Parts: sequence; C-alpha cells; structure tokens
Amino acid sequence: MMSLRLTRGILKNNAIRSYSRAPCEIIEILESGFETLSQSKSKSLLKKHLTREILDKIKTKVTPSYCSTLLDCIQSGLCNHDSGVGIYAPDPEAYSTFSELFDPIIEDYHKGFKKADKHPATCFGYGSDFPNLDPEERFIVSTRVRCGRSLKDFPFNPCLTKKDYRHLECMITKVLKTLCNDHAGKYLPLSCMEPEQQQKLIDEHLLFKEGDRFLQDANASRFWPTGRGIFINKNRTFLVWVNEEDHIRVISMEKGGDLGRVYERMIIGVESLAHSLKFSHDKRLGYLTFCPSNLGTTIRASVHIKLPNLGADRAKLEELANKYNLQVRGTAGEHSEAKGGVYDISNKRRLGLTEYQVVLEMHKGISALIDAECQAGSQK
Ligand code: ADP
Ligand code: ARG
Repeated sequence: MMSLRLTRGILKNNAIRSYSRAPCEIIEILESGFETLSQSKSKSLLKKHLTREILDKIKTKVTPSYCSTLLDCIQSGLCNHDSGVGIYAPDPEAYSTFSELFDPIIEDYHKGFKKADKHPATCFGYGSDFPNLDPEERFIVSTRVRCGRSLKDFPFNPCLTKKDYRHLECMITKVLKTLCNDHAGKYLPLSCMEPEQQQKLIDEHLLFKEGDRFLQDANASRFWPTGRGIFINKNRTFLVWVNEEDHIRVISMEKGGDLGRVYERMIIGVESLAHSLKFSHDKRLGYLTFCPSNLGTTIRASVHIKLPNLGADRAKLEELANKYNLQVRGTAGEHSEAKGGVYDISNKRRLGLTEYQVVLEMHKGISALIDAECQAGSQK
C-alpha cells in the first residue's frame, strides 16, 4: 500500500492532470489515497462521504468533454488531510459524472440541499434591505461581500491551458474596462506586479494569496501567474480577481459595518459584467464554481469583527456561529489564524437559498453575535 507521502510525491512531482496517466495507475493512486485517508483523523467531508461502495462505483469514470477523472477531483483532499471539504470539480460536467460523491458532500456543506432539490432563481433584493450592522463602530472593522463566476464554455482551473488563461483574461479585462462611476478602475496583471506591491495588496486584504497548497494540489495553479490579476476601482472598494480559484471573483468591501452599501456595490458590479459575459449556470446547482462549497449564489458575505468576550473561547464562538449557519475564519482568510482578536465571520451556505436569503442569514447571525457579545460583556 502506498503511503500518504508517496501518494503526495507522485501527485506533486508530476504537475499533470490524470488523463496523462495510465488508467491502472490512476486506480492505484486512488486506492492507496483512499486507504490512507480512511485511516487518518481527517475531518474532511471527502473522508466522511467517500465510502468503499462509492469509490468502486466512480473510480473508472471520466467526464465526457475533458476526460477528468475522480483523481482530478479529489487529489487535493488526498494530499491535504486537514481539508475541510477536500474535493473540486475540474470541469462543470464533474458535478454530474461524479454525483455519487459530490451530492452528499454538497448536501452536508450547504446544510440539507438534497439530490432532488433545485437552487432558486437569482434574487438579489436590495442593499437597502440590510441596515448597518454596527452603526456605532464598536465591533466591525470592515465588511466584504464576494461572489464567483465561471465563464460558459470554459472548464475550471485544472483543465485550462496557458492559452485559455490568456484568452479568459483578455475577455474579462475587456469588459472590466467598460465599468463606470464608482466601479471604474484599472487592471493589474500579476505577472507585471512587483513582489512588494503584491505583498502590500495581500496584507491590505485586497489580493488573493499565493501558493495555496489546497489549490496547488488540485492542479489549479498551473502556469501561474499567467492570466491572473486584480482589477481595483479608485476607492479600493470594488475588486475583481481574475483566474484565481474561479475565473472571476467579484468583491465589494469597505471599512465599517454598512452591509447594505457593500452588497449593493457588488450587485451592480456583477450585473454589469453579466451584460457582456455569459456565465456557467446549472438548473439544479445555480452558478457553477470550481469548489462545491461555492455553488449556487456563490456569495460569501463577511465581517472582520472584534468579539473580545465571545472570542476568549474560540470553540464556543464557533459553536455559537454554527447555530446561525455562520463560518469563522482567521484574519487573513481561510486556513489562517485570528490576529489582534479580529475574526472573519461569514455565511456558510450559499446553495439552496436566494442571494437575498443568504445575505439575510448572515445579517441576522452577525446581529445575534453582537447581541451575545454585549450580553457577555455586561455579565462580567
Ligand atoms: P474568499 O472570500 O474568496 O473565500 P479568503 O477567505 O481567502 O477568500 O479571503 C480573501 C481575503 O479577503 C483575505 O485577505 C481576507 O482577510 C479578506 N477578507 C475577508 N473578509 C473580509 C472583511 N470582512 N474585511 C476585510 N477583509 C476581508
Ligand atoms: N479545499 C479546501 C478545503 O477543503 C478549501 C475548501 C473551501 N474553500 C475554498 N476556497 N474553496 O479545506
């Protein structure tokens, strides 16, 4: 039986997609990866839902258009036992070809979205539906709302060629140039960025970080930095990430707790792009993304928030957040630690609800956490 280190080595040493491996080699890596994962203490949804029965059903399947294999979907989770999810869709068809595995993971992550369920039609509502979460500016440092979009007729990262990356970047930046008023800005390609400027933008929470091992092991960082970049408006409140985890990430953010204003800016931004770009959308799963955790609305509405009383016990904070379907991340985003008592708290589920309902769930949850923080403070 192959060890995790060996499996990881085999996967990493060849930054190749599995279609260039012999089918028997793919099965061998899957079998050994499965054995090691099953025996591990991993808490990933991959470990929880990849049973022997499911593995046997889908281990030889490939997607019709891109020949993506199960290994292309799960190699990140096999390499990284500390994954929360552990699976990605290398191309849009993977969600149906490997539905025996994706469906239970999707149901688990998005809290009850079942095989027979259908994602509702887009309904953003209005920014004005969401009052400022912290008008006295006592708790919230900043608010951010993002969504992801994939361009129709393109696969996701692992199947993109260098030419595709350039083509996608070209199509997207052409449209970004047409944005006006508050949304107008400029595009900075990663390949032309000085390392100092890149680091500064990362530290300011504007730019995606580099070298994410979960993405790298999913073969999602090939040809880096080709085709990758960031669009920034003049006020640095509206951003578009190009070809990071998804083809497009549309982001609105600013200091303070005015969720309505932040959300409205994101809606206008994404709707402007939708006039000229065709997005990948599925009747059942909504907007299609590389990671199943982002399907549906693709919205993550977050605050950077200081909760000194609740945060004194991180496990309790997580428990309370969970009650409101919220997710706690560290200050520098996913897989990071909270620094200076600042947590990133956002909605967890994105699928099975409208955009309006997703943001409402986050608004209600954050308001409840602030109430609980005040109560905990007054009991001291
Ligand atoms: P994503 O939102 O795409 O899932 P991450 O969790 O990696 O990605 O976060 C990306 C960046 O956005 C990180 O620098 C993170 O600190 C920053 N960020 C997230 N929420 C906020 C917020 N409310 N205010 C400021 N920065 C934020
Ligand atoms: N694959 C990583 C994990 O399982 C990330 C999952 C969700 N986050 C994301 N950026 N898609 O932990």
